[in-house]
Amino acid sequence: MNLVTHNSNTELMKYERKLASIALLQRLGPFNVKVVGQDFIERSFLEKIKLYTSAFLSIFKKQIYFETSMQENLNLAKKKIEEINTIHSTVSIDSPNAKVYFNARQIVDTWNKNFGIQNNLIGKIQNWLLSKIDSQWKNAPLISYEGTINVNPSEVLEKFFSFSLVNYQKKPLVIEPKEEKITLEAFHKIAEEHREAFKELLNKYGAILLRGFPVINPDDFSAILKSVLNRSSVDYVGGEGSRTKIKSGVYTSTEAPQQYTIPLHNELSCTIDDFPKYISFACFTAPAPGTGQTLLGDSKEISEIILGQKQFADLKDKTVLHISRHGTEGNFFNKVNITHKTFQSSFGTDNKEEINNICAKKKFIPKWTDEYLEVKRRTPCTRPNPNHPDQTLWFNQIHLYHANPKIRGGWLNHILANLLYCREKTRQYDVFFEDGTPIPRKLVYELYRIYEEKAIRFDWKKGDVLILDNIEVMHGRASYNGPRKILASLIP
Ligand SMILES: [Fe+2]
Repeated sequence: MNLVTHNSNTELMKYERKLASIALLQRLGPFNVKVVGQDFIERSFLEKIKLYTSAFLSIFKKQIYFETSMQENLNLAKKKIEEINTIHSTVSIDSPNAKVYFNARQIVDTWNKNFGIQNNLIGKIQNWLLSKIDSQWKNAPLISYEGTINVNPSEVLEKFFSFSLVNYQKKPLVIEPKEEKITLEAFHKIAEEHREAFKELLNKYGAILLRGFPVINPDDFSAILKSVLNRSSVDYVGGEGSRTKIKSGVYTSTEAPQQYTIPLHNELSCTIDDFPKYISFACFTAPAPGTGQTLLGDSKEISEIILGQKQFADLKDKTVLHISRHGTEGNFFNKVNITHKTFQSSFGTDNKEEINNICAKKKFIPKWTDEYLEVKRRTPCTRPNPNHPDQTLWFNQIHLYHANPKIRGGWLNHILANLLYCREKTRQYDVFFEDGTPIPRKLVYELYRIYEEKAIRFDWKKGDVLILDNIEVMHGRASYNGPRKILASLIP
């Protein structure tokens, strides 16, 4: 067994023991798992049992019902074992086979179809056994990788840093110092000298995670961004995320309630051309493992999936109207719902003329009604990827502006929010097609489904700094319980 880990905790040892004790299974073929983590091992183990069970029963059934020769079936069994072992022995975090591996269920289904699970006795036994294995699997938590695989993507930087990947989607690339007690000054010097190399890594992976550097306070965070990107962060003006300013260009990541998952999105993709090139997060208090992760998504892959559906492809050249509304400081709605920003906090000023100017610059359409500000943003549903013009990206925030039970955390919340926001001028968000027709909930729910399915997870560690290309990589936030302090910064 080949286990690669940085985290030899007792849980993992427990699973190693569990696996080691199953000598019979191991004798059937190599069990070579390069990615470790209890969930992964548990799942891979169950998948392997399922494959063997399915294959052997199918062959057994063939023997009985079709009276094929024993030798023929033994050969078939051998072939199936080889197939299974090939999938399982080559799977690694860095391998395209990882995807095949996770589709093992599909392979089982295909075999069953070919051999035809019928209502005969063997078919029933087969179904029963598979459902037993499946029920075990259902108890296994979602995959969260604790293992890493080492890679070497930069010759220039390899003498200073080690590189690794924590999932097969290759996001983020983890960069750790080779020198254990590296100072930030030493890091800045390397980053400034080799900025091009960092840029190449960002272009290639879209997401890099600096881990193991002494990032203690918001100033350290800003300084790291400055030395890697050579650009200053900008203030978060005119955005809808509920954030508190910590210092110039540094904000709390989101103050949305812990129990909510924020679906994947590209930052400020509700604006015409005012979205940042990079978004960065730094971890000052890590949430409990397996929770509160900053979710990542590959914009290109996700856009292809979305636009592969006719209902979304038909919207390719359409425009969408994102609307937000803000009351004044101390208003009732802001007190009841802390995510409902006042116009002062959204624009960083209470000067209405200044806000109108900011809106004009950002191509927002402001409208003042009493003490409420309505801001309209007319943006295309899709746009060409500025880095790769041949790619079309689904680039908007329909799913964040749409009011529905899912985003509001359930039907009860949804009904209460509808009552709270019964007057249109106070309503936090609205989103419409360009002609003012509402966007069907079914469409938005399909987006949530895709974002959820494609979300990439990694666990935060204190001191981590994550830098994302905001166009290539989407981000979101998993729900959590307990402390979590992540700061965010936008870089133009
Ligand atoms: Fe965001």
